[in-house]
Amino acid sequence: MSSKKKSQKAPKGRSDSDRVVIFDTTLRDGEQSPGASMTLEEKLQVAEVLDEMGVDIIEAGFPIASNGDFESVSEVAKIAKNAVVAGLARAGNKDIDRAGEAVKHAKRPRIHTFISTSPVHMKYKLQMEPSEVLDAVTSSVQRARSFTSDVEWSAEDATRTDHDFLCRCVEAAIKAGATTINIPDTVGYTVPDEHFSLFAMLIEKVPGADDVVFSTHCHNDLGLAVANSLAGVRAGARQVECTINGMGERAGNAALEEIVMAMNVRNDVIPYWTNIDSEMIVRASKLVSGVTAFPVQYNKAIVGKNAFAHESGIHQDGMLKNNQTYEIMTPESVGLKESSLVMGKHSGRHAFREKIKELGYEIGENAFQDAFVRFKDLADKKKHVFDEDIEALVDDEMAQADERIKVISLTVIAGTGGPQKATMTLEVDGTHHTSEAKGDGPVDAIFNAIKDIVPHEARLPLYQVHAVTEGTDAQAEVSVRLEEDGKTVIGRGADTDTMVASARAYVSALNKLRVKREKTAPGSMFAS
Ligand code: KIV
Ligand code: ZN
Repeated sequence: MSSKKKSQKAPKGRSDSDRVVIFDTTLRDGEQSPGASMTLEEKLQVAEVLDEMGVDIIEAGFPIASNGDFESVSEVAKIAKNAVVAGLARAGNKDIDRAGEAVKHAKRPRIHTFISTSPVHMKYKLQMEPSEVLDAVTSSVQRARSFTSDVEWSAEDATRTDHDFLCRCVEAAIKAGATTINIPDTVGYTVPDEHFSLFAMLIEKVPGADDVVFSTHCHNDLGLAVANSLAGVRAGARQVECTINGMGERAGNAALEEIVMAMNVRNDVIPYWTNIDSEMIVRASKLVSGVTAFPVQYNKAIVGKNAFAHESGIHQDGMLKNNQTYEIMTPESVGLKESSLVMGKHSGRHAFREKIKELGYEIGENAFQDAFVRFKDLADKKKHVFDEDIEALVDDEMAQADERIKVISLTVIAGTGGPQKATMTLEVDGTHHTSEAKGDGPVDAIFNAIKDIVPHEARLPLYQVHAVTEGTDAQAEVSVRLEEDGKTVIGRGADTDTMVASARAYVSALNKLRVKREKTAPGSMFAS
């Protein structure tokens, strides 16, 4: 994917003091959503898009949490072209040292260290006295400063913290060298007016407040994360922590796309600006939803399938006369293009190559040739081939490029008679294996056949199908989540035949599981 040059200067008519820095935590807080784990390659793909769309800070993970988290922070740090790359750390030395090590290759590294400050967290979670917490604030920030001059300090559960104590902690963090002070609404408890007052109080009272950037980090338990974040900005915060599609712990975090578009569309009353290229929003949303298998709710603001759909006759009539009647922003402003009919079965290699480029892909020659064969095949089966079809096909092709297990052929007998039967041939490390299995339904039969060929103990907590476009000849995109020994992977497959897509998705998940396993127990999977 190409990288556009980003302007960091205030656009005409906008002042630097109204610039809001976007801190994206999709790869950290977002990935903490149960079941939303991403592979290293997927995290790098997401990071690349975030960087390209103008995110200022990418929080890439929590390096002490696992070797995988460490590796992803470290790899994101190496590839980020513009963004600051942050690693999260608790207040202890080990955490901070690990975060420092992970971000050290970033052009602009940041350590984000935090400790709880609310009575309930200090007493039950930390089992620490307030004075001990205060000491830890100073020592943790000082330690982080020994790695980088860009240190963010967060008061976990700040919105349920005693105000005087919060002021003392923030003051200690600033004195110790923190450059950004984050005030999280960890449990999504606050409301906009209260959040406004909290920031106003801190900025007014804490010595040194003018020398740091204040930051909001709001969770969405009451559906107020975006409203609370904007209230914080109105009071003087100039960093917003958010995630693509509002992913995150429990009900999620403030959604990046909502924060950015609220400022863009209602700049008359929310007069702040960000560096985000809003036309990349839909692409980022689809990517994150795809790699995590977290569907975006149909009526989700900005990126939901229905966000720009007009169903009722009165609305449609208004739209035909003037689209401002029912649209406060254009679909194009968030990167939603009209579904375009791309090509048919007579389209050649050149047109297909151009289309792939236009959709933002860069693929190797072999993957391109394979994708072209599949495109021709699809154009034969499907009346209309849309951009979404090409995207699903290329994603599927890229995912399978270096896989050790491949789907070669599949025949399924299904119907009311039962039991359903699948005959499956897989290529495993270059050798073909065939198995026939029965199941409770065709998908079960397919998965049993795969298990016969590649025995494993993984659990299947998620099997999800969605149609890429409309119509009965639409491609099915299947997502499968597999869990084994605490490791979670998501596989995806696309095909006009839902059963073939299911087999591809399962096999793709198994391949990912193998990569994860090889890292911890080399050679343990598929060993005969
Ligand atoms: O919600 C929260 O408090 C957090 C902190 C670690 C910043 O995610
Ligand atoms: Zn959080």
